[in-house]
Amino acid sequence: MIKTRVVAVAPREPDPEVLSEAAAVLLGGGLVAFATETVYGLGAVATDADAVLGIFRAKGRPSNNPLIVHVADIAQARGFALDWDDRAEVLARRFWPGPLTLVLPRTEAIPDIVAGGGPTVGLRVPAPTVARRLIECVGLPLAAPSANRSNRISPTRAEHVLADLDGRVHLILDSGPTTLGLESTVLDLASDPPAILRPGPIGRETLSAALQTSIAAPRRALREQESGPLPSPGQLSVHYAPRTHAIRVESPEALARIDWPARAGLLAFVPIAVGATPEGVERRILAEPESAARGFYDALHELDDRRLDLIVTVEPPAGEEWDAVRDRLSRATLPY
Ligand code: TXA
Ligand code: MG
Repeated sequence: MIKTRVVAVAPREPDPEVLSEAAAVLLGGGLVAFATETVYGLGAVATDADAVLGIFRAKGRPSNNPLIVHVADIAQARGFALDWDDRAEVLARRFWPGPLTLVLPRTEAIPDIVAGGGPTVGLRVPAPTVARRLIECVGLPLAAPSANRSNRISPTRAEHVLADLDGRVHLILDSGPTTLGLESTVLDLASDPPAILRPGPIGRETLSAALQTSIAAPRRALREQESGPLPSPGQLSVHYAPRTHAIRVESPEALARIDWPARAGLLAFVPIAVGATPEGVERRILAEPESAARGFYDALHELDDRRLDLIVTVEPPAGEEWDAVRDRLSRATLPY
């Protein structure tokens, strides 16, 4: 078992010594968790197939689920994409550093294991200073999925990473809670027209306007598949589940039909009248899209840690600004 160390690092002015220590761990084939603007990532040197195997082991992740490769800038990204076309250039210039992952045909420099055996690679430049300095310090790209065990709730704080991966990661760089709270938008540029594989902070209309072309909407959740490359495994139906039984209803009216156990929690994305839930229910109301994105995993972690008998969630209203929250909610809960 690995001895996990947590080291605090200032988000704006990270100590160069801490960064070079983290870089040494990575260059030695180890795993380092660090914050991106979306969630914490579990990083390994992307060009080191053995190190990347360590990520799959630590997470218990199926080997056909590809990893996002984090690069320092556009110049570095070009070296890993077979065909860095105009669309990639336009989007990268506009949205990087930021929460947009571009899926492109990959070069030989990306090991098969990173790509889940498929022909493409997902690339992005993360925004936080710590993440970018770390990549620069290593001098190589970092493969980093969210720093949680497979099928568990994504981490927005270093504490979440430690609770889930203690003994499985060498170093956790704690630079505080992440600012956006939901994983990046994954856009497939290897298909025509481009398709959203995972909704995220940057919406379809925004991407469509930037490219001046139509973009295909995410497909419905895929059925679990045992082997072979998947179109995008983040699309599996239940993927980010709390341990507590968690259900979702479409509207506040449905709350009246629920058979509430003594210890229950409520997570809603619309206002809920005080009388709509029994007394004693732990309530988290996140009725505004940006703060809902930021607080979504945090609230789920909190409610899950209380070991309640049931978590009831209420879906957000219709509208593109809620797509990413609606998507994650549909994977974390079962319809009631
Ligand atoms: O915000 C994020 O994207 C975070 C931070 C750490 O960067 N990372 C993240 O990684 O969410 P992960 O591994 O938890 O989710 C990556 C998603 C998965 O749904 C995966 O299937 C998809 O992106 N993906 C990665 N590479 C892909 C590829 N080449 N083709 C299709 N889908 C890909
Ligand atoms: Mg994940």
